[in-house]
Amino acid sequence: MKILGIDTSCDETSISIVEIRGKNFQIKKIKILANIISSQVKIHKKYGGVFPFLAKREHQKNLIPVFKEALKESFLLETKGKKITEKESEILKKIFKKDEELSKNFLKFLENYWFKKIDLIGITIGPGLEPCLWTGINFAKAISFLGKIKITPVNHIKAHIYANWLENKEILKEKNLFPAIALVVSGGHTELILMKDFNKLKILGQTRDDAAGECFDKVARILGLPYPGGPEIEKMAKKFELSNLKEKKLSQDYSLKLNFSLPRPMIYHKNYDFSFSGLKTALFYKIKENPKLKNKKYLPIICFEVQQAIIDVLISKTIKAAKEFGANSIILGGGVAANEKLKRDFKLKIEKELPKAKFFSPLPIFCTDNGAMVALAAFFDLPFKKTKKYDKIIANPNLKIC
Ligand code: KG4
Ligand code: ZN
Repeated sequence: MKILGIDTSCDETSISIVEIRGKNFQIKKIKILANIISSQVKIHKKYGGVFPFLAKREHQKNLIPVFKEALKESFLLETKGKKITEKESEILKKIFKKDEELSKNFLKFLENYWFKKIDLIGITIGPGLEPCLWTGINFAKAISFLGKIKITPVNHIKAHIYANWLENKEILKEKNLFPAIALVVSGGHTELILMKDFNKLKILGQTRDDAAGECFDKVARILGLPYPGGPEIEKMAKKFELSNLKEKKLSQDYSLKLNFSLPRPMIYHKNYDFSFSGLKTALFYKIKENPKLKNKKYLPIICFEVQQAIIDVLISKTIKAAKEFGANSIILGGGVAANEKLKRDFKLKIEKELPKAKFFSPLPIFCTDNGAMVALAAFFDLPFKKTKKYDKIIANPNLKIC
């Protein structure tokens, strides 16, 4: 079956078409026919973060070109327009009531194009930025209504977990995956989840304030680095690691070198919650007390320490949960999962403390928001009969995982 996956929950307009053979969680073959992502990073860079109404406007602009490209790449684009009746036009008007620009673009698309058979639509309905979610949902509704295709509403966090099944033969073969501990770390979320099975997910802990990715982004802003902060801080931290290697010094020396260390918030707390907002505050005051830290030469060491503080907390809590619940595997997901040091440290820790547990993380392209993970989440929800008629789909910016 061919599944169209759409995500507009934040600042990426992502549409993917994934072909999957199999049923009841058993995937025989999976092929990503197209995975198009239009990033708004350049626009939000100016402000150092995402503004929901600005992001919504961009989604309205981008959805049709991204959809067209995805169809073209999948060889599903038909260069023959679709005539619509007056009644259909009325319903489209209702669907696009709050997305005027998208409505115009959609009608223009219909004049010249349509597409070959798509079997199912997966659309992210939350959690995410409400105005952005609605634009994606309304687009999915229009496609569903005109194309008579059922929709599965998808939870964005779940989709981040399912990103692990994309282009990863190992996890597809794995028979003993559950119980698993999933850690979803993104710009909006830090959630530790116990997965007893595909439909049995329970949140063990989450952030009480800033998400891990948000912490990377806010620290980057303090340090004068561009948005999104995660990749920038990782780049700088690598510089520090490299210079340490060159000097044949152990990387652990770094805090001695400058007597610079940051707290590991909540690392010894008994629960599985996180708190990252104190980290940026601690850094802010360290720089205020010691203005020489503003010197660019200290940027790599500061970034290394920030990154390490976040990593230490994430790993410590995840390993603790994996031990408590006897996890067979640890699964990462979300934008921060693209961080190489995080993955490296996780592997080392798991080898040492949980040698029987398997470790999975998505390919970097599938860590950040993408439509393919949404398509896959829709596939995995098929046995639970979650498909709906287009008019029953609504956004839920605070959607919970269970
Ligand atoms: O999953 P995602 O694309 O969007 C949300 O659902 O929030 O995650 C974006 C977040 C940003 O905060 C970004 O700074 C962070 O992921 N990120 C990283 C890396 N790449 C992206 N954080 C640390 N290291 C990275 N390499
Ligand atoms: Zn995300």
